[in-house]
Amino acid sequence: MICARGPGALAIESAVAFVVLLLVWLNHSLLKTHVVIPALASAGGNAPVHSTSKQSPLTLSPVAATSRPTVRATSPPPVTARHHRIIPARLRKPVFVSASPTIEAPTSTRKLPMAPLRVTSASPVPAEAAASTSASAPFRFFSIGDQGTGGKPQHSVAAAMQKLSSERNPALILGLGDNFYMSGVRNIRDPQWMQKYEQLYNRGPLKNVPFYPAIGDHDHCQNVSALVDYTYNSPSQPTNWRLPARYHTMRHDIPSGGHVEFIITDSVGLEGAFTNITRPDGQPDRRFAPNLSPQFTDEAAGKLQLEWLENTLEQPLLPGSWRIVIGHRPVLSGSHRFKNDARQYPAEERFRAHLRELLAKHKVDAYLDGHDHTTQWMCAEGVSYLVNGVGGYDLHALDKRHPLTETIWQNNTFHGFAIHQMTMERMQIEYFDMEGALRHTLSIPKFGGCIQDLQEAQNLSQAEITSM
Ligand SMILES: *[C@@H]1O[C@H](CO)[C@@H](O)[C@H](O)[C@H]1NC(C)=O
Ligand SMILES: *[C@@H]1O[C@H](CO)[C@@H](O)[C@H](O)[C@H]1NC(C)=O
Ligand SMILES: *[C@@H]1O[C@H](CO)[C@@H](O)[C@H](O)[C@H]1NC(C)=O
Ligand SMILES: *[C@@H]1O[C@H](CO)[C@@H](O)[C@H](O)[C@H]1NC(C)=O
Repeated sequence: MICARGPGALAIESAVAFVVLLLVWLNHSLLKTHVVIPALASAGGNAPVHSTSKQSPLTLSPVAATSRPTVRATSPPPVTARHHRIIPARLRKPVFVSASPTIEAPTSTRKLPMAPLRVTSASPVPAEAAASTSASAPFRFFSIGDQGTGGKPQHSVAAAMQKLSSERNPALILGLGDNFYMSGVRNIRDPQWMQKYEQLYNRGPLKNVPFYPAIGDHDHCQNVSALVDYTYNSPSQPTNWRLPARYHTMRHDIPSGGHVEFIITDSVGLEGAFTNITRPDGQPDRRFAPNLSPQFTDEAAGKLQLEWLENTLEQPLLPGSWRIVIGHRPVLSGSHRFKNDARQYPAEERFRAHLRELLAKHKVDAYLDGHDHTTQWMCAEGVSYLVNGVGGYDLHALDKRHPLTETIWQNNTFHGFAIHQMTMERMQIEYFDMEGALRHTLSIPKFGGCIQDLQEAQNLSQAEITSM
């Protein structure tokens, strides 16, 4: 079985799926054939990696007037600026630089390819990075989720990212998972690497901007080791793909002060800690169960990762730091399928409940995910939950009949990506559609602050109901 949405899913993206169909056709047994794609996964990828950017301040060169990025005076479509504060003008500054983290390879034999990254902490600041350096600048990065179809929306969103990248100069791109529909990659030479990754995100102005992916459930359906291995041994060197381990942390400095700690989890692997309870009807309790590799997703692997996550969250933060947890799967979502999935896949529901408790307990500022092909901001126990899964695949319905009480803002009308700008106090998120037009701007506060945003949103919708 390939990892498709259902028996009727027509989106056959991978060469594997093509071969499967060919075999099926040859056998003239279309409806009875079940082809099992082995969840191939060999050594590697289990060890977590912790990397930090250099703590010593960067030497800043004077700003070269000619190469200073400019912000074009586009007129974005009317922003539905209902539920959030006005973004201070200083956050709009288009200049920044940040140190990329150095990566400690899981084993000493592993070496990162010497890609000419735009900014590294180990080497002197390259000219183009120095040109946009300013001590008052925010830390800026892009995020994209659920993009790996190879289809037209993915291409258009990537083109918009390239366009905006030359203006905004992101330090990195965060991938929120499902990099390769429908069933991951076969190995590091799978042609999908070129079709759905290199030609889109390691190209033009995005070239050499490091791309840090999280692993999605579709990515888990084939060779997970290859996703990690590609970081070190990509045949299409130099790649900007950065998955040093299935789960890892990294820290970046905010030039204007403070730090950002990213904790990048492997959601499906983590879900393993909550599986192994069979549903009453004897069916597996998790999505794509037959295709998952036990080595990375079974109960033991899940518990190991959960222990790592708990230990990581217990580490003290540097003063002025943000702590942001990333995972493909939502902990909270107002999508239509969210509640159904909880019933169909009890492990998923237990995963959500446990994570919600854990993130609140450790006062995590924000949790970023994909999986649901929508854009959302929710607030629970002071933690901001941000969904961004509109990078390429078909959009998902929002649950209009049973809206979450935690929802501050949501939308599901565009494909696109997000630009994040961080200061010590706030994270501004701008959502751009696949034409490169700004659709919405949010201003995310640190832990606890979103409770007030939620209140305001609720007051506003209450006022709307009363005025009707
Ligand atoms: C899966 O990827 C790993 C790491 O690149 C590789 O060693 C292994 O041969 C791959 N498996 C298959 C079946 O190609
Ligand atoms: C399920 O639980 C049993 C007993 O605790 C254990 O032996 C088995 O390995 C578990 N299976 C998975 C998939 O974690
Ligand atoms: C999403 O945003 C568009 C404008 O960009 C708006 O017309 C639409 O009503 C919004 N949808 C929701 C569900 O808020
Ligand atoms: C929401 O409305 C309540 C009742 O009118 C009011 O007390 C509260 O201050 C409002 N909160 C915000 C954040 O606007």
